[in-house]
Amino acid sequence: MKLPENFLLGVATAATQIEGGDTNNSWYDWAKKGGTVDGSSPVRANDHVNRYKDDIALMAKMNMQIYRLGIEWGRIEPEQGVFSTEGIEFYRSILLELKKYDIKPLVTLYHFTVPLWFQDLGAFEKAENNQLFLQYVEYVVENLGDLVAEWITINEPNVYTVNGYFFGIWPPGKKSIQLVRQNYGNLTYCHIKSYELIHTLRQKKGFADTKVSFANHLRIFVPKNKKNIFHVISAKLMEYAFQDSLTRSFSLGKSSFMVPKSLLKGIKPGKYYDFIGINYYTRDAITYFKQDSFEESKKNNLGWEIYPEGIGILAKTLYKEYQAPIYITENGTCDRDDAFRSQFIYDHLKVLLETNVPVERYYHWTFMDNFEWAEGETAPFGLVALNFETQERTIRKSGEYYSQIIETRELLEPPM
Ligand code: BGC
Repeated sequence: MKLPENFLLGVATAATQIEGGDTNNSWYDWAKKGGTVDGSSPVRANDHVNRYKDDIALMAKMNMQIYRLGIEWGRIEPEQGVFSTEGIEFYRSILLELKKYDIKPLVTLYHFTVPLWFQDLGAFEKAENNQLFLQYVEYVVENLGDLVAEWITINEPNVYTVNGYFFGIWPPGKKSIQLVRQNYGNLTYCHIKSYELIHTLRQKKGFADTKVSFANHLRIFVPKNKKNIFHVISAKLMEYAFQDSLTRSFSLGKSSFMVPKSLLKGIKPGKYYDFIGINYYTRDAITYFKQDSFEESKKNNLGWEIYPEGIGILAKTLYKEYQAPIYITENGTCDRDDAFRSQFIYDHLKVLLETNVPVERYYHWTFMDNFEWAEGETAPFGLVALNFETQERTIRKSGEYYSQIIETRELLEPPM
């Protein structure tokens, strides 16, 4: 199967998960307090902060056309209102390096981690903090905007909120429906205002190719037992509360029970996306308000079902409703022995190519094994294996397979 010419492929990463060296962030703090399964923290990660040149050279060697990377807010604004030129210079160097190899960047402004001072102020729980996020966005776009046309404002607002404020398993470890709704409202506000800000700032500088959206974590929700009315209703309600309400508020500026109107002051209903960003990993079989899975289905090392059809269902459903090019901003799997990652890539790309909707980007999650949040250093999602002790990088078979697809522009079944 030939890949269409305007379908670009590459990899995605997040700042906190690979950079190392930063202790001024909410995840370092959380890890230090015992928040990871192996006691690791993001301070080591991939030491990308010192090795970014080699890492980008490796990306280029692997034929990547596009790269989604994140910015660590705490490096840019280590203290409230104090902006660091050193922080900006670091990201400028990365972007210039990418330019050298003609790899097109997509920059994420917020990916789960906030500076400690912002966490102490209550982060996105409080509407009065929104302005602080927007000041950070303005500073970044003013200083990097000449090198970046494509932006993600916020990564997976639902995963951040639900893990941090409903299950309490991520920072700040709270459990409150009221705080979930407040986060949803404030994050919606921040996304929409950032969307407008990025467009205005780049337009002023004469750039006409700006594209802004958010990366939505989308799952497939199905009742475990189709004949059980409680499973059916639970699946619908969970789908709404976890993802549909946010897709709508972020994209269109519309409030709902989950996204209180009172937090969207000054936001007019409109269109606040230039592409549809989908992060897709798995399907859930829902019982009574519980995530479960089908016993017989294939699973990855974290027990997540591998369900390639899901990526096609989501691309088609979202395209129908929101009518914009699809960017798969993340898709990948945890596979310690690299036993099924190539097949995973093949199956998901095949489904995507068969959807007949305009899929323009595919960012595989992820480039190298990294700091995987609460899983610490124990969950390898990389096309490139990382030895955390020696920092040695080794391209996996699946990495070679993916590079070959990009090079030949042809999707062939992986070798057995
Ligand atoms: C997140 C990534 C994470 C990946 C695998 C996504 O929800 O955006 O940061 O590493 O899933 O768990």
